[in-house]
Order: sequence, then structure tokens, then C-alpha cells
Amino acid sequence: MKVGIPKERRAFEARVAATPDSIKRMKPLGLSFAVEAGAGLSAAIPDQAFVDAGAEIVADTASLLAQSDILLKVGRPLTAAENGGTAELAGLKQGAVVVSQLDPYRNKEQVASLAAQGLTAFAMELVPRITRAQAMDVLSSQANLAGYKAVIDAAEQFGRAFPMMMTAAGTVAPAKVLVMGAGVAGLQAIATARRLGAVVSATDVRLAAKEQVESLGATFVFVDDEEARQAETSGGYAKEMSDAYKAKQAALIAETIKKMDVVICTALIPGRPAPRLVSDAMVASMKPGSVVIDLAVENGGNCEGSAVGQIVQAHGVKIVGYANVPSRLAVDASALYARNLAEFLKLIVAKDGTLSIDPADEIIKGSLLTREGQIVHPNFAT
Ligand code: NAI
Repeated sequence: MKVGIPKERRAFEARVAATPDSIKRMKPLGLSFAVEAGAGLSAAIPDQAFVDAGAEIVADTASLLAQSDILLKVGRPLTAAENGGTAELAGLKQGAVVVSQLDPYRNKEQVASLAAQGLTAFAMELVPRITRAQAMDVLSSQANLAGYKAVIDAAEQFGRAFPMMMTAAGTVAPAKVLVMGAGVAGLQAIATARRLGAVVSATDVRLAAKEQVESLGATFVFVDDEEARQAETSGGYAKEMSDAYKAKQAALIAETIKKMDVVICTALIPGRPAPRLVSDAMVASMKPGSVVIDLAVENGGNCEGSAVGQIVQAHGVKIVGYANVPSRLAVDASALYARNLAEFLKLIVAKDGTLSIDPADEIIKGSLLTREGQIVHPNFAT
């Protein structure tokens, strides 16, 4: 079976779904590999490095798609509407397997069209967060880098220093950073901001986050009531909170945020729009020169006024809404993502190099969207 790795076509995407290292890891599965020319260039991987790892280079997308039995991708493929009338994967043969991030909750029609094309599609962001699947967890591998980069981006946009500095000319006060949402991205943001010398607080609706935040040396800002004690789903995710809770949380955030220099927003609720946590009035209460980084901008944003791919100035505050932040660290993000996919392939390819998809396996059940012309995932069945 041949594994194809195309060049990613979507705007703001610099990552690639395989690396020379991941290809070496997948080789023992008895697979062969075809990489589209230039696919790794924006992640600093020249074609020759893929050749040295044992892959062949294919000149164009059409011939790559035509010969791929398994296609590894980073970003959701372009639909016909997004791609001038022809879907990005139109040239894939019936029965081919697609392993990618597919953002299915926001693109249910595309799930149906993948089924109609007869593709077997796995959405990597739906791989359950169980111990056995940790090495395949693309949400964690990418969010961790995004959390780090968010702080670096904030430091770049902030006209002041992060650490306290005592000099003959006076003392520079440390930056005060608030991290909203203490999941994978938020915890890395806390750790990074602390390393840079900032004074850090963080907020979440899950009580379980308290200990993790505090163990990183940050202060936990939290509305502690009965609802918050039930805010975590069995999967470890946050629930959408009631209006009453949201009002209490907003009052606490409003009090906290006006003392902050930098706010890093990372709060998400799977399958739902991102919670709106920072209002325009809260932004207005911040000091001029403050910076808000909205990592949730592509899911609707945690901060009012944030815009995808833009730095918006509001009340003297910069609201940064960079798109696809993991891709801003394309080399590391590709390396980790590619490793996640290599681990996943071990689950669906038997030792003799043939496909072996066990629909009863918990990881397969969680991530398999379409097969043999049908939508098989219960959350997307029509
Ligand atoms: P996420 O990306 O879905 O959300 C980010 C954070 O935002 C979460 O901590 C969430 O609680 C928080 N949030 C949501 N609504 C909020 C609100 N209204 N106000 C403030 N914060 C809000 O979360 P992520 O990073 O994917 O982590 C989700 C869970 O999965 C966590 O419990 C994490 O520890 C767990 N996890 C488990 C892994 C495993 O292998 N067992 C691996 C990675 C994460």
C-alpha cells in the first residue's frame, strides 16, 4: 500500500503530515511512501530528506492522489466551494483512507461528501484522550506548541519587558499575565510566561485545573460553586456553563483583567463555539499598551473584537488573532503531528502491510467518520 503526503493547500498552513523521521517509523509496516514535491519546504524539510528516508517525490497533487491508498494530511481538505469548484481530494480513489484533522463538527456536509466519495476518513481530533492513545493525540501535541507561541507572540507585541529588571536607571516591573483556560495550551502558556519572568494567574471552569495551575507557580482565579464542581465531563472537557455562572465568572474576570498587561485566551468547548470571556468593556478597562492573544479566534474567539489573522487595536489594547498558531512553529508542529500519525497508522495497518481497521477498537470507534460510502460515526450520522 502506498501512503501519500500532499502539500497542504490551505491559507496559513505551513505544516506537513509526515517527516523523514516519521516515514522511517512507518516503514516497518511494509508501506511505501510518495511525497508531493515541495510538501515539506515550509517546515524546513527539503525533498531530498524525504528521498533519503525512502520516499519517492511526486511532481503534482493529481498524480499523488491517484496513487495513494492512505493519504496523510494536516488540515481539513478544501471543499469544492473553497477550491474553485473541485474538492481538494477529488482525485483520491474510492476506498482510500484519509487520516487528517477534519474539524467535523463545523463541517458536517463535508463529512457527507467524504462518505459519498467512498473514502474511509479518520478525524484525528476525535481520537479519545485515553492513555493508549496519548502518542496519537494531535490536539495535545499542537495545543502545547500554540500555548508556548502565544506567549512569545504576546512578548513581541508588548512594548514592555516580561521579567522584573532592577537597573541603575530604575526598576522595570514584571508583566502581569492572565491565562484563560488551563487545558494543554493554557498550561504551556503559564509555564512559558513564568519562564520569561511574568507574574501569572489563570482561570478555568474545571476545578481539576486548580492544582495544575498552582503547581506551575500561577494563581488560580476561579468561581467556586456547585456548578463548577460538575463542570468537567467524563472525558475531561469543560461543559457549557449556565447564564448564572457566566455572570459570576464575568464579574470576577472584570475585576482581575483590569490589573493585567497580557491576556492569553485558550478556552474551548468541544463541538461548540468558544466561550466569550472578555467583553469590549473589559478590554477598555485594561491599560493602554496591553495585549490580548486570542488562540480561540478560529472557533469564534474568547475576546470580543478579535479577528482571524489580524491584530485589532481597541481602546489602546492590541487584540491578536493569529490564525493557525501551531503552524507558526511549523518545524516542531510537523514533527510532533507526523509522529502522532505514525502511531495511528500502527493501529490501522497490519504487520503484512494491509489495512486492518477494527471497528470495535475504542480509538477507531472515536475517530472513524466514514467507511464504504457511509457515515459510521454516531455523532455525524444523518
Ligand atoms: P480544550 O482545548 O477543550 O479547552 C481549553 C481549556 O478551556 C480547558 O481547560 C477548558 O476547561 C477551558 N474552558 C472551557 N470553557 C471555559 C470557560 N468558560 N472559562 C474558562 N475556561 C474554560 O481543552 P484541552 O486542552 O484539550 O484539555 C481538555 C482536557 O483533556 C483537560 O482536562 C486535559 O487535562 C485533558 N487531557 C487529557 C489527556 C490524556 O491523555 N488523558 C491529554 C490531554 C488533555
